[in-house]
Amino acid sequence: MTYSLNNENKAWLDEVWNKLQAKMSAEVDRVGDRIPYIPVDGKYREDKSETDIYWWTNGFWPGMLWQMFHATGVEKYRTAAEGVELRLDKAFEGYDGLHHDVGFMWLHSAVANYRLTGNERARARGMHAANLLAGRYNPRGKFIRAWNDDCIGWTIVDCMMNIPLLYWASEQTKDPRFTYIAKDHADTTLTNTLRSDGSCNHIVILKPENGDFVEAPGGQGYEPGSSWSRGQSWALYGFALSYNHTQEGRYLDAAKRIAHYFIANVSGTDFVPLADFRAPAEPVVWDTTAGVCAACGLLEIANAVGELEKPLYLNAAVNILRATDRRFCNWNSDEDSIVAGGTGSYHGRNGDFEVPIIYGDYFFIEAVLRLRGQDFLIW
Ligand code: GLY
Repeated sequence: MTYSLNNENKAWLDEVWNKLQAKMSAEVDRVGDRIPYIPVDGKYREDKSETDIYWWTNGFWPGMLWQMFHATGVEKYRTAAEGVELRLDKAFEGYDGLHHDVGFMWLHSAVANYRLTGNERARARGMHAANLLAGRYNPRGKFIRAWNDDCIGWTIVDCMMNIPLLYWASEQTKDPRFTYIAKDHADTTLTNTLRSDGSCNHIVILKPENGDFVEAPGGQGYEPGSSWSRGQSWALYGFALSYNHTQEGRYLDAAKRIAHYFIANVSGTDFVPLADFRAPAEPVVWDTTAGVCAACGLLEIANAVGELEKPLYLNAAVNILRATDRRFCNWNSDEDSIVAGGTGSYHGRNGDFEVPIIYGDYFFIEAVLRLRGQDFLIW
């Protein structure tokens, strides 16, 4: 897909791509096949393959590496990504540690590998992950259970980004069961999670025996009923992806409704999102990761709509990316991480508050490569 950019945006894109290549080349030399998450003093010190192999973000570093390999052909990205994929095998051994986030973990590692290289072992890993995700489906409630322990009827909006693993599994096996599950879950999310104004709940608890709505407690946003911005971006991009895989118009309609709500909110803060669009005015809490994820979703919507509608989504995506670059990107190749200002959760103070977080870098790279027509669909 190519996008029509004016000369100023083209020049910015060329410049940012040059900086990305320098930064990622230095970073892969330092990090290799360890699994980074959040840097401390400009360095990735923690290796999640040692501290938490089940952590939901463990696929984003290999996702960055596969995107870079696809765009540049430079072998060291592929070598490091293959190394991470091997490390992730340890997570398959401990069933109880895995949640619905197997999509985030294996779409960006094994499935990306299979898509680009045809590696059969990688395909098997992807299918194993897809079967784990399908195994979380509740056929009476018609939803995929998010978390373990006593969260039996819990669904979360993030899962919209995990279900592309199921679309991939159906495509691979020619067995529609995986897609049936993905669509049931997307439809349950449409009914219970998406609100009429285009905002979304984060968590929705349903009765496991019949899927009836129980409650929508607060999650990673400010409070119940508020509007956690990364949750909005998961929904925006997730529904756009469900449209891509199914061509069912209700998913594109949902993605557009969420996008209009997102654009309206982000345009009030110079195109960098607050961590929650319905938090009190003070303190100001940013979450750049919501912006860069939404930018990818907006570009996905731009691909799906007609010529006259495209600029709305394209321009919003470019505005978000340029504002993020101007205000939050670190292009010093001696330091790890790119996009600062990411917030794990509004009330969280666990070292993930307005800091660079690995998925912010992933979505920034994907968005830049989308604009250059050099990405591949990892979802
Ligand atoms: N639970 C995934 C996220 O923090 O967005």
